[in-house]
Amino acid sequence: MLLKHKFLIRILLLILVSIVTWMALTATAALGSREYSKPNITNRPDGLAAWQRVYSVLTSPRCINCHTATNYPQQADDRHRHFANVIRGPEGKGVAGLNCLSCHQQANADSTGVPGGHNWHLAPLSMRWQDANDPPLSSAAVCRAVTNRAKNNGLDGPALVKHHDEEPLVLWAWNPGRRPDGSMRTLPPLSHAEFVAATRTWVEAGMPCPQGR
Ligand code: HEC
Ligand code: HEC
Repeated sequence: MLLKHKFLIRILLLILVSIVTWMALTATAALGSREYSKPNITNRPDGLAAWQRVYSVLTSPRCINCHTATNYPQQADDRHRHFANVIRGPEGKGVAGLNCLSCHQQANADSTGVPGGHNWHLAPLSMRWQDANDPPLSSAAVCRAVTNRAKNNGLDGPALVKHHDEEPLVLWAWNPGRRPDGSMRTLPPLSHAEFVAATRTWVEAGMPCPQGR
């Protein structure tokens, strides 16, 4: 009697184990075939990878030409000094007689090759992303500047996402118009949607910055 009982329990256990295994296997198969359009990443390594993508845009010519360490804006992909000796001026808006808005309008002027956007002016020196000799600052240094609210107009993570998503001067970089010679200006290395998504991933991971100088 007792023996029969034990035997039954073993059979039941065996059935239970097979069912659980089968469920686990089908679940893994389903997960494997599912496409993840938006990974829910909240850990540091993925945050750092996302930052590296953000950094590739910040230090591309369309952005860094306004985020200079110099007394003047820069132009084109070789980031040469702005023509006509345009200088930064006290508020990044040039000087009387040669201010940015006397040439730069609200929109690109493709017939003359002057790019345009709302309130066109240079980013403050606290937001410079290159060193005094021109090369872009390291990823760690740019990350420190962008996350330092004493340097970035007090923007926290969500405000940075919004800035990257909506600020007209940021959007201009993906619609930069034609140069005076008629050629199109080149675009940043990511699409705008990819850039905003990378910023969001980085912010959701707690805005990690790489180590080092
Ligand atoms: C005399 C007219 C004039 C003034 C003043 C002027 N710009 Fe420009 N700017 C231009 C023209 C023309 C171009 C296009 C040059 C080219 O693409 O070769 C240009 C291009 C630029 C670009 C390059 C965009 C790119 O990514 O290649 C930036 C940045 C810029 N100006 C910033 C400024 C700022 C900031 C000021 C004020 C401090 C200013 N400019 C004042 C005429 C002017
Ligand atoms: C025409 C010049 C110009 C261009 C081009 C430009 N910026 Fe800026 N950026 C500014 C100015 C000016 C500020 C400072 C905010 C202000 O005074 O409105 C700024 C500030 C910022 C800030 C700091 C937040 C803040 O409000 O201070 C970030 C982040 C930023 N820019 C990102 C970008 C990115 C990304 C690009 C390229 C896709 C870019 N910028 C291109 C002029 C520019």
